[in-house]
Amino acid sequence: MSELPGDAVGVGLVGLGTIGTGTARILLEHAELIRERLGHPLELVRIADLDLGSDRGIDLSGFDCSSDWRDVIGDPRVGLVVELVGGTGVAREIVIAALEAGKGVVTANKALLAHHGFEIYETAARCGIEIGFEASVAGTIPVLRALREGLCADRLEQVFGIVNGTCNYILSEMDEHGEPYESCLKRAQDLGYAEADPSFDVDGTDSAHKLAILCGLAFGVQIGPEEIATEGIEKISAVDIDYARRFGFRIKLLAIAKRSEAGLEARVHPTLLPCESMLARTGGAMNAVEVRGQKSGPTVYYGAGAGADPTASAVVADLMELARSRKLGPAAGGVRVPPLGTPTLRALPVRRLEDLEGEFYLRFDALDRPGVLAHLAGALGDRDIGIASLLQLEERRSEAVPVVLLTHRVKEAALRAALAEVARLGDICSTPRLLRIEREL
Ligand code: HSE
Repeated sequence: MSELPGDAVGVGLVGLGTIGTGTARILLEHAELIRERLGHPLELVRIADLDLGSDRGIDLSGFDCSSDWRDVIGDPRVGLVVELVGGTGVAREIVIAALEAGKGVVTANKALLAHHGFEIYETAARCGIEIGFEASVAGTIPVLRALREGLCADRLEQVFGIVNGTCNYILSEMDEHGEPYESCLKRAQDLGYAEADPSFDVDGTDSAHKLAILCGLAFGVQIGPEEIATEGIEKISAVDIDYARRFGFRIKLLAIAKRSEAGLEARVHPTLLPCESMLARTGGAMNAVEVRGQKSGPTVYYGAGAGADPTASAVVADLMELARSRKLGPAAGGVRVPPLGTPTLRALPVRRLEDLEGEFYLRFDALDRPGVLAHLAGALGDRDIGIASLLQLEERRSEAVPVVLLTHRVKEAALRAALAEVARLGDICSTPRLLRIEREL
């Protein structure tokens, strides 16, 4: 075991996957720059990973490596532990054990924080230890820091945006190049954007995890991902992307949270956005988050939301922040800012989707026979649902023709009831495609 220079802060890294490798690379390549900015070295001293044999393009010979994460926490040189294992099982053990051993913790693990964040924050507070998790939401973008500190004087009302790089990459490629969903997903995996299990990306789970964290910081609320209505992009087809464009929209997977007198809105779903809007123009694996506050108004945060280097850059920035606090020591007051920016979290009821009002895109596969449109319009009209636009192009897929319409503003419960009625008509062949429209975002 090599000695650490007296003024250095030692880092232990658990998990040498995509982000872990990126983190090691930045610590090595930017060692001098980091030393200059901190005034002392930040040294990677120990690494744990189950696979130490694969070539990751970095020289690990100078580090103590083992397959047991306990070796990292037990190493007296390690002051800061980086957890990049992912998942909610062993990762939780690592984080809790590190905090209880008095080590600062940095993690990019949104699933862990969404499910066990409150236990982890309480442990951190009890132990008087800081935890950094900037990389858990929107990759390299310092939006959590902005919420925790830059906007801390304001009462925030909305936070929304594109927080999953994989989905944004897939939807952008499908839209811009007409590529099939599967090949876009495969490339997002090859580029290191996707989760180990990419179904978490495409089914919206990853965005819901991130939204739960954002809600904690923006509104000081304790909310779990299971309270967030979540829909993914798996069913978005080239047909919907094409029709949306004809109506002047692009489809994006959005995470949306709003706080009002009525409670908290928190939802993740594919959304039609006007083509000219900032979020609609956020392409590739980029993320964009907008925050709206009573006094601060709108602020927008844009950048790389996924990928090894951008995400690792946020991990190392957290390490630098925690290293600075370590240097000040407990005499300076311990934890400077609580993880969610407040020691007092409250519970807010989350509103049901059915109770929300909005405009909708509906695509029906209708039998090509007289009277179908009249039936459809009748079923919607009976529930006071106005049709804003309608498109039926001369294209036949099997027995059915697509009929696509946009509604005026309506309560989702009324729309669902009308769709149940439509299903009984007998001239609509399959479950209609329903997508929500947001014009104001
Ligand atoms: N799989 C995630 C994404 C990585 O695509 O956004 C960044 O959290």
